[in-house]
Amino acid sequence: MGTGFLLLKKLREEKDNFLSGQEIADDLGLSRNAVWKMINTLKSRGFSIESIPRKGYILSAITKELDKDCLRLELTSSFENAKIDVYEKSISTNSLCKEKMDKGEDISLVASLMQENGRGRVGRKFYSPKNGLYFSFSYRPSDRIDNSLLTIAAGLSVYKAFLDNYGIEMQIKWVNDLIYRDKKVGGILTEASMNLETGLVDYVICGIGLNIENPDQGFPDDLKDIAGYIFDKLPDKFNPNILIAEIVKNYFTYIKDPNLIEKYKNLSYNLGKRVYFTRGEKDYEGYALDINERGELVVDLDNGDKINLSFGEVSVRSKK
Ligand code: BTN
Repeated sequence: MGTGFLLLKKLREEKDNFLSGQEIADDLGLSRNAVWKMINTLKSRGFSIESIPRKGYILSAITKELDKDCLRLELTSSFENAKIDVYEKSISTNSLCKEKMDKGEDISLVASLMQENGRGRVGRKFYSPKNGLYFSFSYRPSDRIDNSLLTIAAGLSVYKAFLDNYGIEMQIKWVNDLIYRDKKVGGILTEASMNLETGLVDYVICGIGLNIENPDQGFPDDLKDIAGYIFDKLPDKFNPNILIAEIVKNYFTYIKDPNLIEKYKNLSYNLGKRVYFTRGEKDYEGYALDINERGELVVDLDNGDKINLSFGEVSVRSKK
């Protein structure tokens, strides 16, 4: 973590009390001039910092620009030493997170305002233009984990963050599609790297893509009917740093929640509806009956058979 973050953390801790330039300089081992320069840099990144001669500085508002120090400030202390990067444009935040973990990071977060090669489930592309928010976080789980439940925890985390902050109620189409106003407004791609010697998961990457506003050029023809966006007009209080931090914090709570599946079922877009999917070479149709304790979708097939679909195996369509 850099001095920018340490300075923000000190200002945040002081809340409404002024912090003198000298105190900051002594604490961070910087000159007064370096503190002044750092304050100006933070201001130019959109932080509102009040300064009064002979009294010092107060942090009156955090930035609304996607900012790595602001993300660190809003996340839990377990991210204080995480590798965090933000980009105007990146290849794919999941791929960048993977690179960091392969280099030995323990925890990382990458966020981007556009992706050139956004990746979706089952090898698909994820359209990632401007007006969206794309991010991934990665960590090394200490306990055995159930892979299918990670995507479920991530979906609930997004749902809760939008409900709590903007009163927006999404639904989740098993297993990774975020639905709002009957359109897909986001997707989740969880990936895991296995340690072949131990057979355990070495690290997990959870990537989330959100269509925040209508893309400038709209959606391409093949997505027009299914893709949507979350806000017609961005609310004044919209802050990508707070949104990402809340989703990530929710996730680490939900993965320990014994009632995760029950909560997820309440938001399900496809339970009770007809579903269509392809397995191997064959097409299937049936009714989505349930989501079981392993996070599998239980489908009552038209031929009378019941089938449990596991995460990663198929892509379920609600309409033909
Ligand atoms: C899907 O709908 O199939 C899943 C889409 C997941 C997209 C997100 S955007 C952030 C992260 N980086 C990627 O390349 N993919 C995920």
